[in-house]
Amino acid sequence: MAIDIQDALFEADDMTLEDIPAVMEIEKTAFPIPWPEQAYRHEILENRNGYFIVVRLNKAATAVETDQRQVSRKLFGRLTGRPSRTVAPRPILGFAGMWMLVDEGHISTIASRTDWRGRGVGELLLVTLLREAQRRSAIFATLEVRVNNVVAQNLYRKYGFTEVGRRRRYYRDNDEDALIMTVENFVEPEYRAQLDALEQALRAKLARQAA
Ligand SMILES: CC(C)(COP(=O)(O)OP(=O)(O)OC[C@H]1O[C@@H](n2cnc3c(N)ncnc32)[C@H](O)[C@@H]1OP(=O)(O)O)[C@@H](O)C(=O)NCCC(=O)NCCS
Repeated sequence: MAIDIQDALFEADDMTLEDIPAVMEIEKTAFPIPWPEQAYRHEILENRNGYFIVVRLNKAATAVETDQRQVSRKLFGRLTGRPSRTVAPRPILGFAGMWMLVDEGHISTIASRTDWRGRGVGELLLVTLLREAQRRSAIFATLEVRVNNVVAQNLYRKYGFTEVGRRRRYYRDNDEDALIMTVENFVEPEYRAQLDALEQALRAKLARQAA
């Protein structure tokens, strides 16, 4: 059975300037050394080799969340005497970014909202970046990850990344080492087939979650 993205609770989309405040909220909870807001403005407005995305709640799910928020807003308005906003933006559940460095798709950041973890947001972000790297003719994909960040490493290993090196004391906050992870067979048919299978399984999982 074909899985339609519209069936899913959330979907990937390009990051826009309007998304930056929500991205910063997630950024601050996800990373000990958050990127400044200006970095995202630069990526969106100026870096042609950058590809930055968000995962948004889908329209149907947003309508439910908006209804619940409107009840809270009406209550807030009654209690404070201040008017409440009526149009809510579609909530952002995670974000990610990649730089195309010649023939390398370098994943520079990825994070999901704490209350949405374990539901496929990180995976959807990663698969979307890898698809874009393929589209831009990357011949491999690379990233750095903290040695103690087992959750993120599991996600990357699931998508074929393996450890190829280490940067000593790479992270300034605690001098933690970074693992360098790469998908070496990125352009080979076996990897394309693996990515297709993983994406199909993910889309089926997202559709089941939405049902
Ligand atoms: C890493 C991160 C993006 C994963 O996002 P997520 O939305 O929870 O991930 P998903 O639900 O899509 O899970 C995908 C895979 O990640 C791994 N994973 C997720 N949660 C895990 C957990 N609690 N324990 C172990 N592995 C886990 C699994 O391999 C999982 O695949 P599975 O569902 O087949 O087991 C998220 O934990 C995060 O934002 N962490 C803080 C920021 C960060 O460390 N970013 C990485 C920087 S290198």
